[in-house]
Amino acid sequence: MTLGTTTQGYGEPSYWDDRYTQDTGPFDWYQKYPALAPLLNFYVPRDHRTLVVGCGNSAFSEGMVNDGYEDVINIDISSVVIEAMQKKYQNHPKLKYMRMDVRDMSAFESGSFDAVIDKGTLDSLMCGHNSQQNATKMLEEVGRVLKNKGVYILITYGAPAYRLSLLRDLHLWTIKLHVIEKLVAERSLEHKKWELTEPVPLDEGGSVEAVLGKNPEVHYIYVCTKDKPTNGIGA
Ligand SMILES: C[S@@+](CC[C@H](N)C(=O)[O-])C[C@H]1O[C@@H](n2cnc3c(N)ncnc32)[C@H](O)[C@@H]1O
Repeated sequence: MTLGTTTQGYGEPSYWDDRYTQDTGPFDWYQKYPALAPLLNFYVPRDHRTLVVGCGNSAFSEGMVNDGYEDVINIDISSVVIEAMQKKYQNHPKLKYMRMDVRDMSAFESGSFDAVIDKGTLDSLMCGHNSQQNATKMLEEVGRVLKNKGVYILITYGAPAYRLSLLRDLHLWTIKLHVIEKLVAERSLEHKKWELTEPVPLDEGGSVEAVLGKNPEVHYIYVCTKDKPTNGIGA
């Protein structure tokens, strides 16, 4: 996904309904569960209650449950994909699917999740109209539904120059950056350049060029640990 006029539809619910009507998947953006599992296992214990925002028809959450995660709630703005996923996983009690806009998750109580996982959803909102307002609304809601010490794991194509200030401006969490090579699953593990569970040092300005070089072929993973209860809730 790149920013530009052709991707503007990614911020519109009707785009996703059309897309999921035509393409029933499963399809995973950026990375599949097995490639990211070591990082998830590192930050999210298997009995923690997890929310996957903008799940689409990805097999990621199924991968989590098969790996022992016990309570995975999935939301998406597209009713087409949510109905399809509810049907597909009707006999999987550890996987739940609900239609919901990530900018308004009032159906969930504050401080009700240990982890929120976002693979490509903030990126989608940032492609549409009013991207800054929508992204801020989304992140405020993510911060609200997280327990204190809970983690928001954002998997994105967005380098720190395009994501860090947005995340930092909320003053809600401590941020660690990890990276994973694009298409790592298809490459030999011997050629893996970055250790997934090892954070990349971030300086004040958020530059990572000294460590990663210019335009590295990676996806960025921001692990944001909530350390400020919102309105005193979420401890
Ligand atoms: C790039 S896709 C990523 C899908 C999936 N997470 C994956 O990794 O394959 C973005 C998803 O976000 C959903 N989405 C877009 N805007 C949303 C919103 N405001 N609230 C909830 N979901 C939204 C879309 O319907 C789509 O399924």
